[in-house]
Amino acid sequence: MLAKIQPRVLELWLLGGFPSPVDLITAGEESMKRRWFLASTAAVALATVSLTAACGGNESAEGGEAAGGVLTMATSADYPPYEFVETAGGTEEIVGFDVDIARHIATELGYDLEITNIDFNGLIPALQAGRADFVMAGMTPTEERQQNVDFSDIYYTAQQTIVSPSGSGITSPADLEDKTVGVQLGSIQEGLAQDLATETPGMELSPLNRINEIVQELKSGRIDAAIIEDTVAKGFLENNPDLEAVVIPEEGPVGSAIAFPKDSERVDDFNQVLAEMESSGLMEELIVKWFGDGAE
Ligand code: ARG
Repeated sequence: MLAKIQPRVLELWLLGGFPSPVDLITAGEESMKRRWFLASTAAVALATVSLTAACGGNESAEGGEAAGGVLTMATSADYPPYEFVETAGGTEEIVGFDVDIARHIATELGYDLEITNIDFNGLIPALQAGRADFVMAGMTPTEERQQNVDFSDIYYTAQQTIVSPSGSGITSPADLEDKTVGVQLGSIQEGLAQDLATETPGMELSPLNRINEIVQELKSGRIDAAIIEDTVAKGFLENNPDLEAVVIPEEGPVGSAIAFPKDSERVDDFNQVLAEMESSGLMEELIVKWFGDGAE
């Protein structure tokens, strides 16, 4: 038992300590117990650093965890309805469209699922460092990211919108002249805003870590607008009637895919389950569950 968990404990320890309960929300009570057991065995693990290193303790989560029957998913749980922290009933749980898909895939492939919550900008580095087996975060498979990670097939597509205070008069990218525009750090929206800024005089970017921060900055008037994808903006608008959004039509839809460490052997298995979810209608059910009836 101890031998099995040591590499994982070390990995967490060496890569910056144990996540807090808020940052690490596990799938089910069993995993939770195991996680706290791991935390409490940190001292033991430290005492065995040299031994484990000699046995290949640097191996990625992919190699280390698969045999143990646990898949670790990293996400940035600030992105309803894809993934967000639900605090109902005094407990905190990461839920959403991506989480339902991940749970289904894990079950189909015979694994337990653990979820770690980190800033969007840290997701690809987490995969590269072997701290997660895969990432689901409404992540778009861009060419640039494909240099560093592998992607599954696309499972959902969405459009970009400009969100601004109601009555701002901002209806197109040209209206972003002399405006400060919030975007999530490391997202494709940041890249899009950088492109727009080159052709929009006086437009400035305000890159922030979490979407909630962007919404707060907008409401307090510290930024004038934000670029957020339509399905996510819709949810924030429902809770914030003082904001409005317009689609940027010329950008066209972009998709979300699951990211893996480069050359991961899991991509095919995941794609197969995604395809089955499409053909069985389960994907459509989840889309309706999380995005509503109007979603395609
Ligand atoms: N689709 C965009 C991208 O890939 C934004 C994703 C943001 N996801 C999140 N969980 N905050 O860059």
